Amino acid sequence: RSRFEAERGRTFAMIKPDAYNHIGKIVDRILEAGFRISNIRMVRFSTENARQFYAEHAGKPFYDGLVGFMSSDVVVGMELVAVDAVPKWRSLMGPTNSNTARNDAPTSIRATFGTDGQRNATHGSDSPASANREINFFFSIPSNTAALNNCTCCVI
Ligand code: PPS
Repeated sequence: RSRFEAERGRTFAMIKPDAYNHIGKIVDRILEAGFRISNIRMVRFSTENARQFYAEHAGKPFYDGLVGFMSSDVVVGMELVAVDAVPKWRSLMGPTNSNTARNDAPTSIRATFGTDGQRNATHGSDSPASANREINFFFSIPSNTAALNNCTCCVI
């Protein structure tokens, strides 16, 4: 495909609670990779927000742990625009499990900033349809600044 035929698309990226201290570095990597950040927002998921966001995994053994982790502190959600945005962002993140990532993609974001299968620093949509759903969901969550101020990791 020539660059004249290439179509830009969008994906949803999210920096998870375990990567709060690395938000700046992860945003740098996103921009250095050539993505356009067309929307960005910090949110504290309620338990219900997390259950809905990960509804496709309901019933799996890790679901309750995932929901608890994702609602434990703030996340940063971004709409990213690039040619082939969905696979481009998944490639930059690396494999889901950060331990696997350290073996198979040692310079990836999950290898650098994540810990394991749950605490893996970032999320990315798995298809353009998921990206649409996730972007619509995330940027429609009602704002709750009180919850943002209640983080336990950086009391000042
Ligand atoms: S699956 O079943 O293959 O679709 O699951 P997978 O794609 O590997 O992971 C989907 C998301 O679930 C998270 N996950 C976990 N959370 C907690 N504990 C365990 N053991 C676990 N395994 C997977 C994983 O981080 C994925 O989150 P996202 O946000 O999609 O990266």
